[in-house]
Amino acid sequence: MSTTPAFLDVATAVRERRAIKHFKADPIAPEVLSTLVELTVAAPSSYNLQDWHIVLVQEEAQRQALAEAAFGQAQVSQAPVTAVFAADAAAWKDEDRMAKIYETGLQSRAWTPKTVDYFKTAIPQFMRSLGPKTREYAIKNAMIAATHMALVAQAMGLSSCFLNGWDEDKVKAVIGAENQPALAIAVLLPIGYAAEPRQNPGRLPFEVNVSVDRLATPYHG
Ligand SMILES: Cc1cc2nc3c(=O)[nH]c(=O)nc-3n(C[C@H](O)[C@H](O)[C@H](O)COP(=O)(O)O)c2cc1C
Repeated sequence: MSTTPAFLDVATAVRERRAIKHFKADPIAPEVLSTLVELTVAAPSSYNLQDWHIVLVQEEAQRQALAEAAFGQAQVSQAPVTAVFAADAAAWKDEDRMAKIYETGLQSRAWTPKTVDYFKTAIPQFMRSLGPKTREYAIKNAMIAATHMALVAQAMGLSSCFLNGWDEDKVKAVIGAENQPALAIAVLLPIGYAAEPRQNPGRLPFEVNVSVDRLATPYHG
């Protein structure tokens, strides 16, 4: 029998998710965490590179060190797990990783040998053409995975809070990535059971930042 909770539907999870600032000390059951990770790494990424590195910070001393790197934000010291989403701008150069990606694509029959041959040339070509934007591209993928995690957590009765407030060098030191210049911290995501209610601060009307065809034509819904 499954011990994971019933899932909320996507629309309900999106509507109910709030940026939670205080968490209970209650732990996340290992099978719940495992499902959460499974559905997080199911996120899409450019060329299926999966060029994130997610560090699940759980140990007490690590949590407190991470909270310090995040300017003392209570979410990190209180949440039983904070996922650090690091983006690896050099992942595409890692031959073992690329071989695994090609292998799983072939085994699942999602990709043909011809597709893989094409990727072997196209991926390095495209990534080299990005120059300094490789970091930005890796961060896009990591943010998509983090968004999966936040919504799946919500669907499983957990809460989260995206965090931009942290010192990158300090976060890297906490997770043991201080000597990895190609690894960028994308976002921190504390996850746990909410210890507070939080109201939706609301969103702008569509016409402010949604358009049709061109920026000058606002979308009214
Ligand atoms: C990328 C990102 C970074 C954020 N950084 C912080 C942060 O450092 N500290 C914090 O308390 N909230 C942070 N937030 C939460 C936002 O303030 C919050 O999502 C926003 O006010 C909308 O509220 P809602 O998430 O409840 O809809 C962040 C949100 C995002 C998406």
